[in-house]
Amino acid sequence: MARQADFVVVANRLPVDLEKGPDGTETWKRSPGGLVTALEPILRSRRGAWVGWPGLPDVEADPVKEDGLELYPVPLSTEDVENYYEGFSNGTLWPLYHDVVAPPAYHRHWWQAYVSVNERFARAVADEAARGATVWVQDYQLQLLPGQLRQMRPDLRIGFFLHIPFPPTELFIQLPWREQIVKGLLGADLVGFHTPGGARNFRSLATRIGGATPGATQGEVVVDDRTVKLGAFPISIDSQALDRLSRSPEVADRAVEIRKELGDPRRLILGVDRLDYTKGIDVRLRAFEELLDEDRIGDDTVFLQIATPSRERVEHYIRLRADIEQTVGRINGEHGRVGHPPVHYLHQSMPRNELTAFYLAADVMLVTPLRDGMNLVAKEYVACRHDDGGVLVLSEFTGAARELTSALLVNPHDTDGVKAAIAQALEMPEVEARKRMKALRRQVLRHDVDAWARSFLNALGLST
Ligand code: ADP
Ligand code: G6P
Repeated sequence: MARQADFVVVANRLPVDLEKGPDGTETWKRSPGGLVTALEPILRSRRGAWVGWPGLPDVEADPVKEDGLELYPVPLSTEDVENYYEGFSNGTLWPLYHDVVAPPAYHRHWWQAYVSVNERFARAVADEAARGATVWVQDYQLQLLPGQLRQMRPDLRIGFFLHIPFPPTELFIQLPWREQIVKGLLGADLVGFHTPGGARNFRSLATRIGGATPGATQGEVVVDDRTVKLGAFPISIDSQALDRLSRSPEVADRAVEIRKELGDPRRLILGVDRLDYTKGIDVRLRAFEELLDEDRIGDDTVFLQIATPSRERVEHYIRLRADIEQTVGRINGEHGRVGHPPVHYLHQSMPRNELTAFYLAADVMLVTPLRDGMNLVAKEYVACRHDDGGVLVLSEFTGAARELTSALLVNPHDTDGVKAAIAQALEMPEVEARKRMKALRRQVLRHDVDAWARSFLNALGLST
């Protein structure tokens, strides 16, 4: 592992988290979230290095080769986790960038930690990258890194991709450190977003407060005689791999078994998310509860919500969990029978095979975020439905809604609209459902994560 790498991905997290057993044994486990889902297959095929945090505070881990990936851990202290990760990244930037659906907090000591941790990541990359290497920086936790790294290593080619929405300029300018963030991003040669709207918002800020001037095209700005490209690159999943997995007999058998375990309901509704307040889990529970109250859904229908634990020490998340669990309890208390709760709730992370079986088993998939950069769960559901079965209900406020136009699109703020869409999905004639799913599958199978990476890296000037 002494050789320096020609292609380096840097993200807050490594694709695997280090776990320590009570007896001190160390194991690596896949990390949560869409960023890892998307990038892991790409990095495996390109044999690059991945620089990131191993997921536990105060752990100094050596570089490792884990299942073909070269991993370079960057340690974070308990204080770094509190101030940089839970604080500035997830208490300030995450809510601000998701349309302030929860109020962001602005604290100077969080910002200072963000600056110094970004610099530490930049140093780790500067040490690992070969001369003239390509470095691909990921997501909102590392927006200062492109500028810091350019100072340290002007020979590198630097790309940045934001996995979450880039907010409207009126919201972004709330940030006391707005100039530093925009200038940090402008250290890259290419800054990528999920949507053209995100790229436009950033372009406008780059020229207003980032010291950039307009470039030759809409897709460029000029900073210190250097051209920075901007663009939209909607991310995707490894659709073929998921399609293949969903066709395996084990997954098909497990899907049948899951329905049996749930009491063989006539209809199964599914939600799969990190337990995050942007995901609108409360929105769909409220809609489901009202449909039960109004007898528009009977006891032949079951709703299963699988929620991965996430950011469990951050205040908004603690409150969200309590609210969701109270709502589930209320619905089951009022509408359940012994052995037949209408809502099944799992606060757990699932292995890939098991998740695929759940997708295959579900008649209706509810994806109702208040705001989401892309939402890969929606694409995963579609990729798994090789039988052309199932109906996807999808929030308009996801990046995925721009591509998945044959889903039942809903405004998550409109409870009546969400109820109507759920009712429509449950009773949709098979011919219409199949037609919609076929159209969705065409989109998801054609535009996979490899095409996404290729288009980004080509725009960065790397031949792929
Ligand atoms: P985000 O990146 O905000 O978490 P996405 O929908 O884009 O949202 O990506 C979520 C990823 O996490 C998907 O690949 C999904 O399969 C995975 N995931 C979500 N919930 C679970 C779960 N309970 N168990 C395992 N994986 C999950
Ligand atoms: C989203 C973010 C990622 C993040 C993931 C999981 O996908 O865009 O950057 O890694 O959520 O969140 P966590 O805070 O657990 O890393």
